[in-house]
Amino acid sequence: MEQQLKALREAAIAELARVTDLEEAHDLRVKYLGRKGSLTTVLRGLGGLSPEERPRIGQIVNELRDELEDQINQKAADLKKAELNRKIAAERIDVTLPGRRARLGHRHPVTLTVGRIKSIFMRMGFSVAEGSEVETDYYNFELLNMPPDHPARDMQDSFYITPEILLRTHTSPVQARTMQAAGPNAPVRVIVPGKTYRCDYDATHSPMFHQVEGLVIDKGISFADLKGTLDLFAKEMFGSSVRTRFRPSFFPFTEPSAEVDISCVICGGSGCRVCKGSGWLEILGSGMTHPRVLELSGYDPSQVSGFAFGMGVERIAMLVYGIDDLRLFYENDLRFLAQF
Ligand code: PHE
Repeated sequence: MEQQLKALREAAIAELARVTDLEEAHDLRVKYLGRKGSLTTVLRGLGGLSPEERPRIGQIVNELRDELEDQINQKAADLKKAELNRKIAAERIDVTLPGRRARLGHRHPVTLTVGRIKSIFMRMGFSVAEGSEVETDYYNFELLNMPPDHPARDMQDSFYITPEILLRTHTSPVQARTMQAAGPNAPVRVIVPGKTYRCDYDATHSPMFHQVEGLVIDKGISFADLKGTLDLFAKEMFGSSVRTRFRPSFFPFTEPSAEVDISCVICGGSGCRVCKGSGWLEILGSGMTHPRVLELSGYDPSQVSGFAFGMGVERIAMLVYGIDDLRLFYENDLRFLAQF
């Protein structure tokens, strides 16, 4: 019996030395120590021994079981550790590799255009004001000489919140707000960039769009000042070879009023698809501030005079960048936006 146990021990230790992975270690454990394992079978056979021999052999068997258990556990632990080390070695991070660059965003073409318009007028001595996008009917229409039921309101299909409150349809309400803040007859030279809203949607209209308003008031301001200012703006914005044309028009808050055209930036004035053969492109509305508008905001039209203008930023951006559909500005397609 003792001989048999000795041979079993040697065989087990020799086999353990050849074990190379956790699965083999597990199989070995089952083979010797499992419920039907060799050592367990020996242990069960102890009953057949004489009462004198039983304790001695039993002790040897128990010791052998403990020894094999320890050795197999040790082997399994070593294998686990080796496996972990292999994984760590394979996953090692090369800290000298270049990092992943965060992609830098940039300004939207409409923002870029507002920035250019602002800088041109600031160089002419204008300051910048802003109003709120939610306005009262009173500022958006009435103070601009458009009483309720005035037919000119039909030109600006509005989003009303209540009968008195709406999303401003143009930046012109800031005219009255600026005059009231400046005080009676104080000189004003201001531009007002901002968002405006009209119930419109097609290739050249978006329900939300941008305008830049301009207002100049002082003693002796004339139509010549309006022409000179807007002609200079057009040349700064579109290039020095651009010509301007002032066409009679109508706005309730300016008298006289003029639509300003520039010579076509595509064909130079000879006529093409963009200018529909006319050679001219409309860029803004303007006029001499109506005496009634001055009065309504506390100014005295016998003391001061002024001019105002309002332009659509998207329209100007479309001409500057050669874009044929205004909706592109608001579809947030990076293939479009990344080009500016
Ligand atoms: N507010 C006018 C519009 O949106 C433009 C304009 C502004 C015209 C100032 C004259 C003077 O159509």
